[in-house]
This record gives sequence, structure tokens and C-alpha cells, in this order.
Amino acid sequence: MRTQVAIIGAGPAGLVLAHLLYNAGIESVILENRSRDYIEARLRAGVLEQGTVELLRQNGVGVRLDREGLRHDGIYLQWPGTRQHLDFLELCGRSVWIYGQTEVVKDLVAARLGAGQPMYFEVSDSAVHDIDTDRPAVTFLDVDGNAQRIQCDLIAGCDGFHGISRSAIPAAASRSWERDYPYGWLGILAQAPPSTDELIYAWHSNGFAMHSMRSPSISRLYFQVSLDETLQDWSDDRIWTELTTRLAHEGWELTTGPVLDKSITPMRSFVSAPMRYGRLFLAGDAAHIVPPTGAKGLNLAVADAKLLADAIIASYGFRGVSPLDAYQETALRRVWRCTHFSWWMTSMLHTEGSDPFARELQLAQLRYLSTSRAAAQSLAENYTGLPFGW
Ligand code: APR
Ligand code: PHB
Repeated sequence: MRTQVAIIGAGPAGLVLAHLLYNAGIESVILENRSRDYIEARLRAGVLEQGTVELLRQNGVGVRLDREGLRHDGIYLQWPGTRQHLDFLELCGRSVWIYGQTEVVKDLVAARLGAGQPMYFEVSDSAVHDIDTDRPAVTFLDVDGNAQRIQCDLIAGCDGFHGISRSAIPAAASRSWERDYPYGWLGILAQAPPSTDELIYAWHSNGFAMHSMRSPSISRLYFQVSLDETLQDWSDDRIWTELTTRLAHEGWELTTGPVLDKSITPMRSFVSAPMRYGRLFLAGDAAHIVPPTGAKGLNLAVADAKLLADAIIASYGFRGVSPLDAYQETALRRVWRCTHFSWWMTSMLHTEGSDPFARELQLAQLRYLSTSRAAAQSLAENYTGLPFGW
């Protein structure tokens, strides 16, 4: 097979990249090691920045998002005795949308297959070759076990944190930065109408908790657990009791309901550079991970895909590869900004042991956000998303 861009991974990064290239008349092939059903059901993030929403709309994949997505103009920050609303629209003129990553994936897969563009599900043994030449290739076994080879101009490694692309960059040429947090999030999806109009991020002495949602009848809630806790420790009743305690606010009640899904996710910050080596380009979780507190992971993957698509489109017009050189510098600048914001939100809201000094600093920061317009504005512009080429 021959194509212009071989894309490994059909998460938001790979699918958005393929879609933007297609709209610009550039051919690609997507390889995904899971099934279509699996990637369309996998429960992931749910907050889209305004720039992500505009990009999807401008590229013809915003119809269902406009119909079913919930626009939120702010969030609540909470600590004992206070539930403070931050009005993003008023603070920075931008909003966010609640629309599950699974829904974004479904819309992009439907657009891809609807346009008759090549996409291989359930592949195995994907590998990249000759990335430091101008004739790179990807090999894999298709769903029937047949060996396939794609000759291409460029390879986009969009295969997430556990993919194979990042490790194809020689260790001597790469560097990574990492921070593991000593806690994780227990998340539930519940058949219960949300008890709030906008998301609540709550500091509590028992640990962080948050109330999110997926639709007018489905709530999504999370709370901080220590790394040695397992789902066996948490019956549905115990989960609701803990959420009720941590989210408690005078005159407000949490609506409970059947738990449809529950899982525990560890929290990590990770950045790997370079995001380009020869003809291999990394985008999304393949190159970086942020803890979910700032709702940045999905948006950062989309931003990488947009920056990479622009660079690839420009490079074909240019009849050379020069515009591609700019990709990793622009992308990494944004990655580090979002890495800082996600670390900062995480550090402000999660309890670590019972360090009384740390606790007072967290509360001082939360109070500052509720009284200083400058502080609130800074949170608002980061949360709703900085421009792609920031
Ligand atoms: N070959 C082919 N596909 C692969 C391989 C492989 N060797 N390894 C992984 N994949 C696929 C995964 O099955 C997944 O569908 O690559 C895709 C990567 O998608 P994501 O993990 O969703 O990563 P990305 O597109 O960068 O989006 C980041 O996803 O994990 C969330 O919170 C994160 O919201 C963020 C977003
Ligand atoms: C979610 O709805 O899944 C969600 C919302 C906000 C976050 C993280 C996750 O910060």
C-alpha cells in the first residue's frame, strides 16, 4: 500500500488529524489495534474547550455536538462553607462544552468511514520502519492476520501512552519528564440527573471530589482515592456516601442513582520530547499525559492534531519539509502550558497526607481565586483553552 500519511491510533489525535488532512485533500491510512465497538464505548474525558468545538464545527463534524453537547459558561470551585461560581463567559468571553470523548470518536469514525477513507481496526504487531529516511513505512497484521506494509511520506504516532511510536525514537535522542501523584480518581457513571448546572470541583479534608455529567439524565462523578485502594473497597453505597460527604453544601442535595460504570485511574504528568524524529511525528497521549483535573488531555490531543495537520498541509504546498520543523516547537510550548495548568489544578485540590501547611496554602489559593478577578481570569483562560498556536 502507498499513502501520504500513515496514522497509528484512532483516538481523538489520530482521528482529528486524518479528518483535517482529508478536508485538505491529503490521503492517509489509519491503523487501530482495537475494534470499532471498543473505541466507541471506552469511557474517557468529557469537556471540550471552545477551540476544540470550533475546530470540529468548521470541519463538518459538529452537528451532533451542537445538538447534544451541553454548553457550560463556568464551573464551581468548592471548599467547606463556600461554593464559588467562576463565570468564564464574563471572565474571558469563552465557554466549554460537555460532550464525551466517546461521542467525538463516534462522530469522527462515522465521518471517516462515510467518506470511504481507509481505516484498519483490530490490527496487531504495528511497527514503524526507516523513519530517518525519506521513505518511511509502517507494517502490521490486519484483522485476518495478513501481513501489510504501508509506504508513506510521513508517519503520525497517535497511539496513546502505551503505543509503540514513542519508543521508535532512539533513547539517545529523546528525553522525558514525569511526575506521579500519590493518589488516583475513582470515577463513576450514574443513571442520575446531574445535581448541578455546571461542574463542581471540590476541596475536602477527606480528599478531592468532583461532579460532572454526560447528559440531562447521566452524571459522572469522581473522587480522590489513595493508590492502594481498589474497587473491591468501594461498594456503590460507600461511593455515594463519600461523594455526599465531600460535595456537601448547605441547601444542596446530591441525587444518587444506579452506578453504570466504575473505575480507578492513577494520575500522572508526563512529557516526552522531541515530538518529531525524522519522518515520525508524535501527537496526543503518545507524547504526553496530564492528570485529568484541568480537563486538558483530550483538548491537547486535538490541538496537537491541528498543529500537525497545518504543518503537513503547508509542507505539501511548500514542496519540501520545512513547515514540519515548526510543529514540535509550537506543540511543546502548548503542552508545557497545559502541563503546568493541570499540575496546578491538581495540586490545589487534592489532599496529600495531612500536612497542615499544604492545606492552608490550598485554601488560600482557592480564596484568592474567589476574590481576585485577575486570578479567576487566569484559571478561566486556561480552562476554556488558549489559542492553538499559543
Ligand atoms: N497500533 C495501533 N493502534 C494503537 C496501538 C498500536 N500499537 N497502540 C495503541 N493504539 C490505539 C489505542 O487503542 C487508541 O485507540 O491508539 C489510540 C490512542 O488513543 P488515545 O489513547 O485516546 O490517545 P489520543 O488520541 O492521544 O487522545 C488523548 O485520550 O486517554 C485519553 O485522557 C486522554 O483525553 C485524552 C485523550
Ligand atoms: C469528565 O466529565 O469526565 C471530566 C470533567 C472534568 C474534568 C475531568 C473529567 O476535569
